[in-house]
Formats: sequence, structure tokens, C-alpha cells
Amino acid sequence: MSEFATLHEIIKAGRANLDKPTWDYLIGGADTETTLKRNRLGLDSLALLPTALGNVNDKQLSARLLGVGMRIPVLLPPLGSVQLFESGGCVSVARAAEAFGTLAFVSSVAEPDFETVAANSNASLIYQLYLMGDTGWLDSRIERAIAAGFVGLCLTIDMPQYSRRERDILKAYVPASGSQAGSEHYAFQSQASWQTVAHIKEQFDFPLILKGISTAQDAKRAVEAGVDMIYVSNHGGRVLDQGRGTIDALPEVVEAVQGRVPVVMDGGIMRGTDILKALCIGADAVGIGRLQAIAMSAGGVDALTRALELLEIEIDVNMGQMGLSHISELNAEKLVTAAPVNPPHLLSAFPLLDEGY
Ligand SMILES: Cc1cc2nc3c(=O)[nH]c(=O)nc-3n(C[C@H](O)[C@H](O)[C@H](O)COP(=O)(O)O)c2cc1C
Repeated sequence: MSEFATLHEIIKAGRANLDKPTWDYLIGGADTETTLKRNRLGLDSLALLPTALGNVNDKQLSARLLGVGMRIPVLLPPLGSVQLFESGGCVSVARAAEAFGTLAFVSSVAEPDFETVAANSNASLIYQLYLMGDTGWLDSRIERAIAAGFVGLCLTIDMPQYSRRERDILKAYVPASGSQAGSEHYAFQSQASWQTVAHIKEQFDFPLILKGISTAQDAKRAVEAGVDMIYVSNHGGRVLDQGRGTIDALPEVVEAVQGRVPVVMDGGIMRGTDILKALCIGADAVGIGRLQAIAMSAGGVDALTRALELLEIEIDVNMGQMGLSHISELNAEKLVTAAPVNPPHLLSAFPLLDEGY
């Protein structure tokens, strides 16, 4: 098993194991990378409030989504090209999800393919799809995902066309998942619509998640369209530049959804306290994108499982300091706005990184 005692060490090891082009592909955002930084800025601009003399003896940190039990409310979002960070790719992610006890998404632009992943793990898996073919193609993908035992389908809707990531452009770096940009596959992607959502709901009795919702209006429309889970995300700041941080979008989405379906969010989540903040606002669970990839690079299945354990420890300890024992006790009254203490950036949650430890 992995012996990392802190997330700091995992970040350091993961970074050391990647060459610069791959590291830049992972950490980069679109254009000015403002949306990416706002994900952290939003999280760093909130402070947690303690409750005096709470009994914190018997913690309850688990969650449930789509009928699947999760040890903590943290899932593993889809990562295209995840095989760049560790050769096992999606199979390693699925095995870490299984070892720890959580849900993992399998990206349709990652390796190995979704059916191979399902055949090589017993994890609860969600198939993430970009629309890259006609209706016949879509239906057959969903049928195959159902047959392979996936627990749901995630349609990612925040990237109707490939974005401009200047770190990659400047080096002419093309990741496997970006190689279809500009091809006829993206022609389908750019035509995905609410009719696509209606079609899926009409044809299939299979949980549908829309990933990439960031406004109350879209959240409301998605619930009305029968979507089973709302996923608040801006793709880690990799698509629309000059957008809002996801933690800033979360309150209006939670308000619009009114508890009718679960709300999941991601974007900048790196520490247990980030998770507590999102849960206080009303998220049912959060996803870790880049932290997942960096842990994979640090040591594959074991390091990713360890990263999840360390998040669990951080949640446990900080909930204890807050005087709380049950996840359900987290609410908006436990949060206030506060000034960030560091300039926010992707790794601003790791202040000791360059201090020689
Ligand atoms: C390298 C990389 C590849 C990604 N590929 C996909 C993908 O194939 N499908 C998708 O829906 N989201 C994809 N995303 C977005 C993540 O699922 C997630 O929304 C995002 O990483 C969350 O932000 P964070 O990295 O700050 O945690 C990708 C993100 C990264 C960093």
C-alpha cells in the first residue's frame, strides 16, 4: 500500500513523474485560465464556522448516489487521456474506486474502452459520453453501457467544441482525447441539444447525468427534462474562459433544483475542507479531476486510493473541529465569506509544495 502521509507528498510525486508537456496538458485551462483560477478563488474565499461543544465521537461520512454507497461524498470524474498519467488508465481509476468504495466515471475519450474497464473491475461505473455520432451511434453506445453493467450515463455538455488551451497550442501538443478536434466527430458534439436529452430519456430507462451545468436556468430545465442528476462543472476551467468558479455557481443551482435530484459539483477540489464547503452549500457529492490524475501519476491505484483515504481523514478531522459528526449537519450557516490568504491558483491548496519538504 501507498505510504503517503499527506496530499502534499502525492502532488509532489505526481508532478515529478510527468514530463512538462503532459503536466501542462493536465494543469492547463482555456485561454487566460481565469475560470480555472476562479474555481480556487471561490473555494479560498469561504471560511468554515465551528459549533461549540458538539459531540464528534461517532462520525458518519458516507453518501449514496444513484443507489450506490460511497465511503465519502467524493467521486472520480471522467478524465480523457487518463492513460497518460498511469498506463492502466481507466482500469486503474476503476480499481481505486472499488478499493476505496466510491463511484468512478469512465470517459469516452480515454483508454482502455468502457467495456474493457467494466470487464476488469467490480467498481460502480458511470459511462461519460460526448456526442460523437448520430442517433444510431448514441443508442448503441447506451445499450452497450447498460449491457456492460454501468450504473448510469453522463452526457458532458460544456464542451460543444474543442477549446483553446494555449499551453498546448504553444507546444503543438495534441493529447489523445483532443485529436478529434475539428473532425466530423465534433460536428455531432456541437449539435447536441435538449432534444438529445429528451431522446435519451424517452428511449432508455437508465439514469442520466448532465455534466457541465452552471446556471439555475439550465439546472431547472434539466430537472424538467427528467435528468436524474445535475453535475455542476466548468470542466476544471478547460472550456469557457472568463467563467464563474463552480462553487460560486453552486448556490443558485441547488436553489433551482430544490432537492428533486442529486447535485454534484467539481472544480478546484483538492482538500477535505473544499469538500466540506461544497456540502455546506448543498452539493450531495464532489468530484476530484486533477487531484485524481496527479495521484495516478504519483503511484497508480495505490496512490489514488491513498489520496481518497487522506481526503477522508481531512474531512473527519475538520468536521471534528467544526463540532459536527454527521455529513447531514453541514449547511449554509456553517459558511461565511472570507479573504483568500494566497493568490489562488491550481495548487494554492498546497502551500508547502516548494518549501523543501
Ligand atoms: C486531463 C483532463 C481530462 C478531462 N477529460 C474529461 C472528459 O473526457 N470528459 C469530461 O466530462 N470531463 C473531462 N474533464 C473534466 C473533469 O471531468 C472535471 O470536470 C474537472 O477536472 C474538475 O476540475 P478539477 O480538475 O479542478 O478537479 C477532464 C479534465 C482534465 C483535467
